[in-house]
Amino acid sequence: MVKVTYVAFDGTETTVEGEPGANVMQTALDNNIEGIVGECGGSMMCATCHCHVDEAWADKTGPRNDGEDDMLECAASEVTSTSRLSCQIKLTSDLDGLRVYLPEEQV
Ligand code: FES
Repeated sequence: MVKVTYVAFDGTETTVEGEPGANVMQTALDNNIEGIVGECGGSMMCATCHCHVDEAWADKTGPRNDGEDDMLECAASEVTSTSRLSCQIKLTSDLDGLRVYLPEEQV
């Protein structure tokens, strides 16, 4: 299992375990994490799964792909250099301990 810590806009941290191969959006929904909506089910059509990857993990999660950049233009909250669509981050053992920050606008 892969541990992921979700940090809500108010600083509340929730750590859960996800299956390798699952994505960060689905893992949040499976664990009732507030702050990720995932309206399109992970098909990169909504940007309601926007998160900010902790700077310390940004290299490991990798860069955004072109489709993410386009979709993030529709995000309700500010986009930063570590913004990702959480449905596009797949959990692997390398990401064990991953931390992501969730925008207030998605609560
Ligand atoms: S869930 Fe819709 S873009 Fe990620």
